[in-house]
Amino acid sequence: MSTQLDKLKEIEKSVGELLAKAGSQADLDQIRADYLGRKGALSEIMKSVKDLPPEERPAFGQAVNRLKNELDAKFAERAEQIKTSAKPQKRAGSPDHRKLPEDITLPGKHDYLGKRHVLLAMLDEIIEVFHGMGFSVADGPDVDTAFNNFDALNTPQNHPSRDIGDTFYIEGNTPDDDNPLLLRTHTSPVQIRTMLSQDPPLRIIAPGRCYRKDAIDATHYISFWQCEGLYVDKHVTMADLKGVLIAFAREILGPETQIRFRPHFFPFTEPSVEYDFSCICKGAGCRLCKGSGWVEISGAGMVDPEVFSAVGYDPEKWSGYAFGMGVERIALIRHGIDDIRLLYQNDLRFLRQF
Ligand code: DAH
Repeated sequence: MSTQLDKLKEIEKSVGELLAKAGSQADLDQIRADYLGRKGALSEIMKSVKDLPPEERPAFGQAVNRLKNELDAKFAERAEQIKTSAKPQKRAGSPDHRKLPEDITLPGKHDYLGKRHVLLAMLDEIIEVFHGMGFSVADGPDVDTAFNNFDALNTPQNHPSRDIGDTFYIEGNTPDDDNPLLLRTHTSPVQIRTMLSQDPPLRIIAPGRCYRKDAIDATHYISFWQCEGLYVDKHVTMADLKGVLIAFAREILGPETQIRFRPHFFPFTEPSVEYDFSCICKGAGCRLCKGSGWVEISGAGMVDPEVFSAVGYDPEKWSGYAFGMGVERIALIRHGIDDIRLLYQNDLRFLRQF
């Protein structure tokens, strides 16, 4: 009997060691089969009970049963330990991740910082470049008088742009009124306001919004930004105008940029031109320049003596140039955007590209 009891002790020891090493439920099942299963070590040893003298058999049987119960308890305890150590630890304050394994292929979450709209960022750059050339910024209201917007700019009463179909008049005002209020159709009235309040020489730019009853399409919108320029001094020439516009264009759009003057008429400049910048597109299919390679920016010219007279400057003494500038046009060329409407739709998928 003592050899049999020794064998029981050995089994108890071996099972203890194996359980300590077991890392999974599958390991536990294997150990149980080897020791407690039908053909396991304990069953084998039970078979030897018949070799014992009859009076020793009950005690041996009890010793086997006791060991079996003890081992059962040890298996259960180890199984519990293995189960808890496999559980992912819950992070404080976070949802229980046990059910859903983390999907490491999901895109990460990140917040977008707000930033300046592409159009106003363009305007900041424009102002910066003119600042560098000695221009200061002048301002004027979006609602202005017909005198500042038209009359002082030498625009006759019957000029088509004064028509109610082209210009937004403030409620209660009509084109036939004496100096009606309107939404300015260009930034040129700021020239008048500045000259009425300052003596020459002066060198200003006037960025601001303008309004026209235009049909909206890829290149027109009812409201848009212009940046007016005005330089008044002695002996100013058209060459000064061209030099400033070329320097500006190359600073903003790159050193290869070309500029083109086309003869035109504006009531407030004489001579007048329309001017274009070369498009940075490479192909014939460009919607901006329509394959011509040129994009119209605005008009310019030498300040008409009539305008100087309207603001009390002596046209014999002073000369000057003035130019307009479509800010959207420049942003379109610069960023290769082919539809002005995109600038006003506030679609973040578009805006975040810049
Ligand atoms: N005000 C004109 C427009 O909106 C543009 C323009 C033309 C401005 C000639 C000027 C200029 O200062 O000299 O179409």
